[in-house]
Amino acid sequence: DPLRALDRPVVLVGLMGVGKTTVGRRLAARLNRPFIDADEEIEAAAGRPVAEIFADFGEAAFRDGERRVIARLLESPSPMVLALGGGAFVQDEVRALVKARAISIWLRADLDTLMSRVSRRPGVRPLLNDDDPRAVMARLMEARAPAYGQADIVVDSDAGSHDVTARLVLEAL
Ligand code: S3P
Repeated sequence: DPLRALDRPVVLVGLMGVGKTTVGRRLAARLNRPFIDADEEIEAAAGRPVAEIFADFGEAAFRDGERRVIARLLESPSPMVLALGGGAFVQDEVRALVKARAISIWLRADLDTLMSRVSRRPGVRPLLNDDDPRAVMARLMEARAPAYGQADIVVDSDAGSHDVTARLVLEAL
């Protein structure tokens, strides 16, 4: 039933810099739904930014928090738009939950697009604090493609502005 399917949360997945948050906000406005950013929820719960959670507690602790926050958000699914941090959908438990309760959209972009977008906000992404962030991104792209590929819908975000991408997602829903 397409109507019931549309009542499900719409969950955006994909790599850092692909535009999950910006596209998600626009999508939520057009669908007249609340927008929730999973990383912001984790930051609120931890009382500190993602970079500090990684620095103070380590990535494993961040992943635990991420899993808990997403499980709570999808516990009683409502028609929201939810943007996940880039690594969330790679966690088996998160992916299974999202697949069961939501419509998932993989926003995809090429390496150049991703690197130019993440370079606008340096320092906020601990995984890219590396001598060669481009190599890190390329590795993540390869390693994560099989997980992202399990999303229900794939939308290319190289095509144009975030507005264009939001429209492509709406058309795909
Ligand atoms: C991560 C992506 C980040 C954030 C954390 C880890 C990842 O979210 O969750 O830095 O593993 O790809 P964005 O995709 O919103 O940058």
